[in-house]
Amino acid sequence: MTATPTLHDTAAPARATASADDAAARAERTQAYEHRLRTLSEASVHQHFDAFLDIAWDDPDHAIRLDDPRWVLPSVDVLGGTDWYRSLPLEEQIRVGIYRQANICKVGLQFEQILISGLMNFAFNLPNRSAEFRYSTHEATEECHHTQMFQEFVNRSGQDVPGGRLLFRMAGPFLPLAARWVPFGFFYGVLAGEEPIDHVQKSVLRAGDDMHPLLQRIMQIHVAEEARHIGFAHQYLEHQAPKLTRRQRAVLSVLVPVVMRVLCDEILVPSRRMQRDLGIPRQVVKDLYWREPESRKFLRDLFGDVRMLAEETGMMNRASRMVWRWMGIDGRPSRFRSEVASAAA
Ligand SMILES: [Fe+2]
Ligand SMILES: [Fe+2]
Repeated sequence: MTATPTLHDTAAPARATASADDAAARAERTQAYEHRLRTLSEASVHQHFDAFLDIAWDDPDHAIRLDDPRWVLPSVDVLGGTDWYRSLPLEEQIRVGIYRQANICKVGLQFEQILISGLMNFAFNLPNRSAEFRYSTHEATEECHHTQMFQEFVNRSGQDVPGGRLLFRMAGPFLPLAARWVPFGFFYGVLAGEEPIDHVQKSVLRAGDDMHPLLQRIMQIHVAEEARHIGFAHQYLEHQAPKLTRRQRAVLSVLVPVVMRVLCDEILVPSRRMQRDLGIPRQVVKDLYWREPESRKFLRDLFGDVRMLAEETGMMNRASRMVWRWMGIDGRPSRFRSEVASAAA
């Protein structure tokens, strides 16, 4: 008896061709990804900074003095733009300015310490010849220099700043474990730390206020190297996103905006200790973080690039969009990385 060809039989060759095409497309994407990582690695070799060779710490113009008006916070700083701050006597504005800058550096270096540990966990099991291994260790090297640079600034500022809040500092040793077990979530967390600091530093540098040359040098170095770090996190997340299962994607999509907001607050919102040390009235903090329309816009503006990435990595769905809104960080995604925020939100 002759068998009648079934639909299954006729579709099989087509499926085989399609899966060969898929495999070819995947291989091509991997090649392009590895090429970009090699470019980033080579840029790290040719353009990098040393915390002690590239900053003239002992230049007399770099001395940190409590009578130097260049420490007055710029108007683009959320706290610096308040009536409360502007009404302080000049010497108090300077004291608050130095403390605030030192604390931002301290919390920044605590983030970097978590990132360095996480990068080591991430690299631990990477296979031989991995492009990710080489780039992630370049990044860890650069972050080590940043922690030295920031800590040196804190030491010279004379301010005994705590950095992040107690809970954050207690969670610090455990957060890098995420890089081993949930690297996709970890690199979104990295962006939650890097994007707000980078955004704030770039807007301060762009504003061109008469800032202290030591802080300006630190920010220039940091912005130059962070561009690569943020670039890698974007590349990694875009490359890994198609490999997520539907369930992983659903869970991560609602977690991402929460992580963004929590870590952003850690960097930008003055802790209780800082409020006490600087005498910032409770009401000023409440209004500023984040009730007033301008500060809410500032908060949304910080995440234009991350919203773009969330769209590109399939992290935006009906439920997650609601969470972005609850977190107060929704808005239009950037059209390209580093699009000027006022145009993106
Ligand atoms: Fe850094
Ligand atoms: Fe970084």
